[in-house]
Amino acid sequence: MAVFTVNGKTVTAEKNQKLLRFLRDELRLTSVKDGCSEGACGTCTVLIDGKPTKACVPQTDKLEGKTILTVEGLSDWEKKVYTWAFGEAGAVQCGFCIPGMVISAKALLDTNPDPSREEAAFAIRNNICRCTGYVKIIDGILLAAKCFREGTLPEETADWKVGSRVHRVDVEEKVTGTGQYPDDVYLDGMLYGSAVRSQYPRARVLAIHTEEAKALPGVVCVLTAADIPGSNKVGHLKKDWDTMIAVGDITHYLGDAICLVAAKTPEALAQAKALVKVDYEELPAVHNPQEAILPDAPLVHREGNLLAHKHIQRGNPAEALAKSKYLITRRFSTPWTEHAFLEPECAVACPDGDGVLVLSTDQGAYDTQHEIMGMLGLPAEQVKVRNCLVGGGFGGKEDVTVQHHAALIAYLTKRPVKVKLTRAESLLIHPKRHPMEMEFSLGCDENGIIQGVAAECIADTGAYA
Ligand code: FES
Repeated sequence: MAVFTVNGKTVTAEKNQKLLRFLRDELRLTSVKDGCSEGACGTCTVLIDGKPTKACVPQTDKLEGKTILTVEGLSDWEKKVYTWAFGEAGAVQCGFCIPGMVISAKALLDTNPDPSREEAAFAIRNNICRCTGYVKIIDGILLAAKCFREGTLPEETADWKVGSRVHRVDVEEKVTGTGQYPDDVYLDGMLYGSAVRSQYPRARVLAIHTEEAKALPGVVCVLTAADIPGSNKVGHLKKDWDTMIAVGDITHYLGDAICLVAAKTPEALAQAKALVKVDYEELPAVHNPQEAILPDAPLVHREGNLLAHKHIQRGNPAEALAKSKYLITRRFSTPWTEHAFLEPECAVACPDGDGVLVLSTDQGAYDTQHEIMGMLGLPAEQVKVRNCLVGGGFGGKEDVTVQHHAALIAYLTKRPVKVKLTRAESLLIHPKRHPMEMEFSLGCDENGIIQGVAAECIADTGAYA
């Protein structure tokens, strides 16, 4: 147990836990964002005795007598200044990193009211932003510093005519941390859900033993593919992605869900997941298109390993290359690219009449609705998807990852549930930008004018379309 001050109020942390969890789950100070829980991203930065600190690092038992400040505890004047300055600088996009940035800025400006650009950059060295980049955030900090020094804010002059320079409409809620991402939603009686993932990239699931997990106090359900009322398969481009891998079926990658556990607390959830035992028959995997293309390659999906083949031709490239004075052939490779949005995937679902309502951080609310309709076997009227703020996506949040799992738990248990990925799960599960192996042949004439190009590009879509 520890007694300390948060935003001017004395609080008692009964249970020893990460400060981040205490601030969010018990005090509901949701400006303190959970981007990684590993001390890496800085979205949970708070001031402890005036020093910027990632709230996911210290345990509450170590904070006896300390003074903690979150964005909620800034004065109204400070909130106004940061909102105006960040809005004016265009320093806010998805907003997920911004409260942490504001706290780091405050730590600087409290001791150095007229910082240089370099000092402002140094102050946010532990805060990652994936959307805005740092130039405009530094501009925002320097503008805020000027306002604090002068003690005034410029008049709002934007007239919202076409061509006017205006602040984002959501800048205030993103700077002050009042805007809601799904993880900021806490509902009465809300369960916590999560999937047990495959141990092998390719293996046949022989049996799923859920009895021990189900018997654990606090566990509400353990669901498998057999519990899905509609179709197990989802996928926007092709319905090839199993909501869960059924007994007898084969996994396609390490991110595959085997079963879903829902419990009354995150602690019971973690314990229950560890109690689920799965019997597998490990099978040879296919790791890249070069392996997948071999005649005797194992099949990732029953229909084969080729998702799509496109041939585009204009003119006669073979002839053009043959007639070219100079010919050059080179190979190029691009890697898997992670989107690295700062907000990990999270969805909250609750019963809604005979159907479900899903609060999501979504790049395509209608796609998500259609996937859930198919999986639950429900018409559109019974599946509502409401988008909360989206803490970055960049294409990595187009597919369903947690939304359909949350919907299934809420639909079957008739209780609200939050399903959220850890940063490690997020990296493992969501699709990436395709790596490509490319061979280009270019022919040109004696003046360097290109006469023809022939190219072969092989893209690795991973386990699913
Ligand atoms: Fe910084 Fe999106 S605005 S991560």
